[in-house]
Amino acid sequence: MDIRSAGVVGLGTMGAGIAEVLARAGLTVTAVEADPDALARGMSMIHASLGKAASRGRLTEQQHREIASRVRPAAAMASMADADLVVEVVPEQLPIKRQVVAELDRVLRPEAIIATNTSSLSVTAIAAGSARPGRVVGMHFFNPAPVMRLVEIVTTVLTEPDSARSVTALAVRIGKTPVQVTDRAGFVANALLLPYLNHAVRLLETGYAARDDIDLAVTAGIGLPMGPLALLDLIGLDTSLAILEVLEREFGGTRYTPAPLLRRLADSGRTGRKTGRGFYDYRQQETGQTASRQRAELPAPPGTVTLIDPGSGRPASSDSDRAADLASLLAVAGISVTRDPAHSTDLVIVAIGPEGGVLGPASAVGRAADAIGLHLPDKDLAELVPSALTSAGALGTARALAARLGMTAVRSADRPGLLVGALLFAHLRDAVVMVADGYAAPGDVDTAMTLGCGYPRGPMRLLADAGPDLAVNVLSAMHAGYGDPAFAPPPLLREYALAGL
Ligand code: CAA
Repeated sequence: MDIRSAGVVGLGTMGAGIAEVLARAGLTVTAVEADPDALARGMSMIHASLGKAASRGRLTEQQHREIASRVRPAAAMASMADADLVVEVVPEQLPIKRQVVAELDRVLRPEAIIATNTSSLSVTAIAAGSARPGRVVGMHFFNPAPVMRLVEIVTTVLTEPDSARSVTALAVRIGKTPVQVTDRAGFVANALLLPYLNHAVRLLETGYAARDDIDLAVTAGIGLPMGPLALLDLIGLDTSLAILEVLEREFGGTRYTPAPLLRRLADSGRTGRKTGRGFYDYRQQETGQTASRQRAELPAPPGTVTLIDPGSGRPASSDSDRAADLASLLAVAGISVTRDPAHSTDLVIVAIGPEGGVLGPASAVGRAADAIGLHLPDKDLAELVPSALTSAGALGTARALAARLGMTAVRSADRPGLLVGALLFAHLRDAVVMVADGYAAPGDVDTAMTLGCGYPRGPMRLLADAGPDLAVNVLSAMHAGYGDPAFAPPPLLREYALAGL
């Protein structure tokens, strides 16, 4: 079927974005929203986005006018009677979706296709409630829809091949990359993304790290375009909670149990950007990137540093390499370094690995209050890890030291994985399990996360670059530390590490 005219039901952030994408590709789009205020808001989102593109020279004024005129607002679904395809983008609740599909069944031509943009519900369950189950498919877009290139095409055992072919061809025509997935909760991208975002909320609510540090660790340390808490605000905390609840019902286990803080914020109406407030306050234009603010309030950097190698006394270890690398970095920055604990210095640094462990080595040299753990997961990021006995002065001096080295500093609890490793390797573990389950090929996992979530490198590439042995070590430390099987290195990962692949 050659799809020329479309409808969109539900004009929230995603619905407006999808209507814009379809209209930009030349389709006429009837945008239906029963609530007149929501309809007006959705239409102004579309006009604002097109206006921004025109002001940046991405669209001519004429293109802008033509695209805008192709989107026709309407209050009733009957207005879409001629549509070849309707995308439903109503809230993530099966009864609401089914009611919309039943109404669409009544107004649409029998051959028209109904696409659901559900992010986690069963497309099979939605299709089974329709009078045309073979013409119901999943078409899962990513936020912001005009920017993210992935569309997950979800087929079910009921889908007619022509429906799948038609929406796949349409996805290509509107400039997206379609990836075929089967009907499993969260498909590929959300099943990987949401547990990782949930983990970040847990770290925040348990005081493991501060909000801005969590987001900075991910952007500066892993290179993802947004930190997890800022991304939750973009997706919507209510939507994220609904997806996690579906994932928890389907798969069980701690990774999917919504963090209580996420639930509280969603319940309180602080659902993210769309309401002006989530983890950040958008009414005050908070950005989460506070590195420059941090730098402005720093004390003087240390002139002298005692460097402790937690692995010393053992045979040559990666700890020793780490301490040696750190010693040369400090020397290049003009800081005088001693390894002799008897020398008096401005700061004691324990050159920890991602497994952590500051207090033991710091106490052993008798200067626990002056000592802080330092780990560099990336050339631009310093993880500062105080122990329970580290003084506030030592933490400030360590921040100044990181600034002197030209690095972004984040503070982490002294727990296995620290901040970057805990978030990253647990996330990569989920991706390995998905591959080991045979649900998605490694290439599909990377495509989903690069095109759907803007990762510069997908999880499999991140894992290859970090090395499976490091992943196994960090995950083993997390598993031993927390006893949670959700952190246990999966057998496939262990095999790759053992084989040196
Ligand atoms: N609508 C339209 N265009 C937008 C936009 C929006 N809401 N937000 C950004 N853009 C455009 C900008 O206009 C800009 O376009 P030009 O290059 O033509 O000027 C471009 O995108 C880049 O934007 P910015 O320079 O303002 O900002 P940025 O470089 O920081 O990128 C981002 C912003 C694209 C959102 C980027 O941070 C990113 O990729 N973030 C990850 C988003 C993500 O993970 N999305 C998936 C969430 S999961 C989901 O949606 C599925 C689900 O079911 C929950």
